[in-house]
Amino acid sequence: MSQPTIESILNEKRLFEPPAEFANQARINGMAAYDALYEKAAADPAAFWAELAEKELHWFKKWDQVLDWQPPFAKWFVGGKINISYNCLDRHLTTERRNKAALIWEGEPGDERTLTYAQLHREVCQMANVLKDLGVKKGDRVGLYMPMIPEAAIAMLACARIGAPHTVVFGGFSAEALRDRLNDAEAKVVITADGGFRKDKTIPLKAAVDKALENNAVPSITNVLVVQRTQEDIYWQDGRDVWWHEVKPTTSAKCEAEPMDAEDMLFILYTSGTTGKPKGVVHTTGGYNLYTHMTFQWTFDHKENDVYWCTADVGWITGHSYIVYGPLSNGATSLMYEGVPRPSNPGCFWDVVEKYGVNIFYTAPTAIRAFIKMGDDRPNARDLSSLRILGTVGEPSNPEAWMWYHKVIGGERCPIVDTWWQTETGGFMLTPLPGATPTKPGSATKPFPGILADVVDLDGNPVGDNEGGYLVVKHPWPSMMRTVYGNDERFRRTYWEHIAPKDGKYLYFAGDGARRDEDGYFWVMGRVDDVLSVSGHRLGTMEIESALVSHPAVAEAAVVGRKDEIKGEDVYAFVTLEGSFSASDELKAELKQHVVDEIGIIARPGEIRFTDALPKTRSGKIIRRFLRNLASGEEVAGDTTTMEDQSVLDKLRAGA
Ligand code: WTA
Repeated sequence: MSQPTIESILNEKRLFEPPAEFANQARINGMAAYDALYEKAAADPAAFWAELAEKELHWFKKWDQVLDWQPPFAKWFVGGKINISYNCLDRHLTTERRNKAALIWEGEPGDERTLTYAQLHREVCQMANVLKDLGVKKGDRVGLYMPMIPEAAIAMLACARIGAPHTVVFGGFSAEALRDRLNDAEAKVVITADGGFRKDKTIPLKAAVDKALENNAVPSITNVLVVQRTQEDIYWQDGRDVWWHEVKPTTSAKCEAEPMDAEDMLFILYTSGTTGKPKGVVHTTGGYNLYTHMTFQWTFDHKENDVYWCTADVGWITGHSYIVYGPLSNGATSLMYEGVPRPSNPGCFWDVVEKYGVNIFYTAPTAIRAFIKMGDDRPNARDLSSLRILGTVGEPSNPEAWMWYHKVIGGERCPIVDTWWQTETGGFMLTPLPGATPTKPGSATKPFPGILADVVDLDGNPVGDNEGGYLVVKHPWPSMMRTVYGNDERFRRTYWEHIAPKDGKYLYFAGDGARRDEDGYFWVMGRVDDVLSVSGHRLGTMEIESALVSHPAVAEAAVVGRKDEIKGEDVYAFVTLEGSFSASDELKAELKQHVVDEIGIIARPGEIRFTDALPKTRSGKIIRRFLRNLASGEEVAGDTTTMEDQSVLDKLRAGA
């Protein structure tokens, strides 16, 4: 079993109607309801969103203008005052939700904690006050480098509460990667933990922060707030480092939410693109709050008593939008799990579903593929009857994995929502609505109401049914990224000029190729740029190449994706060496470790292949598609006559 191929998807004709008993109780309860919403939104997107914003969110002050669109820069709810921490917490406290579980947390070693809305509010206020005491002011950036513990969500909400944009760096990134991101954001404070538990091991997070800050390498940082988790010994710098558990008891739990401008920055989240340097994706407050709120509510058909579990890490956009902000804004119960499936407990996900009676479960196809390998016994031995809805995100779902999810996990009664979106889009763009949309295995189906998606050619002209093209969005939506932090030009170039703007009309191009079938269903075919998806994690090939060439032994490096049954893709690097170095297994291991040090464990190459030269065009461009073929053990396809030196390819083929 592997990633979907065009052939397998073209032949996929199965259609799954929402079960009648599900549809009957759903918020959006049939295609007629979806179509009506979609058409209403398409006719006047601004009015559609304004109506929902008024109905669904608390505003300190109403906006003056719904949408100000100066392509490619959008502003939503201009002049409105809002605070997402208030919408996620305070407004629930005067309702029956006050003592409802906001976060249910299960730790890797089996410890557990539940925070009600009232308790979560209290902790968030305290952390907000600690940040203030450390001199953090509205507009100051705060870095987060956290394990999956409630304090990760508490820290995000605390930042939002006082108007300090957070930038969360996934705990699997290295000290180097953390340093670059903290510097780009010019963060003032970092919130971290002594460590975290992952796969029967501890991850020394504080040590990585110390390394990142060594020799004043991030001059903007004044303090490090440390949450105790593993209780391992750590280095301590007096004056800079502060224990959360020491300051918390004496810190007031009263902290009013700061009325923020709807367009004030809520967070920066770094993501990989086609260049060596990750981009700081900027999201603002009001539109993001509304869009994550609505997509969570409709796509997961959220009901008051649901236990909802998204298995992502808060270090990714999925954790931001669908562990913290979307669910809590709806007053939902969001389950947070510190662990990941591991050899000693491959069934841990199903244990957690049974233990907490999870109703809505949201994970990645790569995890599903890994579970299939582990067999049906573990899920079959658990009571999964609480499940109502299943979701996927991160990569195309191969029909085989989809069918297994449907049968073995969903008992053939749970609609599957395959959600296509990105860090840049903030929330779901293509997704079934579970009580309405008939699903097709492998398709993210149709656009969310208000999203005008299309598949076009390079000139921006729509392509015909079932023809491949570029997946674009034609109208701004509330949670679209506003810019690349500190680099408007890069924002414009990367997302809006790949498909040439015509007659002043700009199309947002996401980086994915897609096809639309005769029923109007979208089939996302994967990235058309040099971005890999490794276990659903987004990695830039250039980023990994830069890491490799920063090693003294490496002259040149080219990184491509190799198809992988479980991970979807794996990192495969072709490397040429500097004259004085020779190829060896030790050097291979050293280079793999070097990438881990430079970027993080998630970027570790599965394979490094030494070669005397890389296949290039006469103008010196590396021909990656040949390398992709070679890496995946396929025939080298396409015209090889443009090559500068044919013998390079012959040698690579011979050595394969
Ligand atoms: C891919 C993750 C197919 C896609 C939320 C996109 C998907 C990239 C799907 C964004 C899906 C995400 N079907 N492909 N349902 N969901 N992708 O920024 O290539 O980490 O551009 O956001 O993941 O990755 P990111």
